[in-house]
Amino acid sequence: MRDQARTWSAAEKLDYLRRKNLGNCQRCKLAGSRTNIVFGVGNPEAELMFIGEAPGFDEDREGVPFVGAAGRKLTQWLGRLSLTRDQVYIANVLKCRPPNNRDPEPDEVERCSPFLRAQIRAIAPRVIVALGRHAGMLLLGDGHERTLREMRGRSWAYRDPGGAHEALLYVTYHPSYVIRRERELPPGQRNPADDTVMADLQQALQKLRSV
Ligand code: URA
Repeated sequence: MRDQARTWSAAEKLDYLRRKNLGNCQRCKLAGSRTNIVFGVGNPEAELMFIGEAPGFDEDREGVPFVGAAGRKLTQWLGRLSLTRDQVYIANVLKCRPPNNRDPEPDEVERCSPFLRAQIRAIAPRVIVALGRHAGMLLLGDGHERTLREMRGRSWAYRDPGGAHEALLYVTYHPSYVIRRERELPPGQRNPADDTVMADLQQALQKLRSV
């Protein structure tokens, strides 16, 4: 079994994780209100992985992460970097939608995050971009309370708790935050939050291409 597992492709590992380990997950209360489990999407061999917070309305309905307004924003950012969604892997901390898009609760993160960590081990990305404070804090993993401003603009180390994988970690604004800021601005005015994210993503990509 160990020998067999060692030769599995990333796609096979993800498939096993999704079908056999996660299955029809009932490990937390979100199981009762979800429509679909939103596992992840993209290239299982991706060197760059994006991690958001939790599925929203559209994602819950379709079973695919980042397909609503926040997803369109993320896709736009990728496009500006000449990347497509097929070249990266996209997942969330929580695999099920919290009712009314409320913040994830600690027990939900505790039960669900092992699946995210297993996804990261299977994909083994070299660079991870955490979208928003929740994903950033979880992946930093040192238990310190930090604001997003404290986390963005530099690289951190993501370390698998079992030591199976390490990656560079960048944290930037969640697309939903950037969209909210956009709505507060007069039409046509440049959104500084959007520029900040692009600077963060360019930094992450530059690093990926230089190592
Ligand atoms: N927000 C997230 O954090 N994830 C999604 O998949 C959609 C919106």
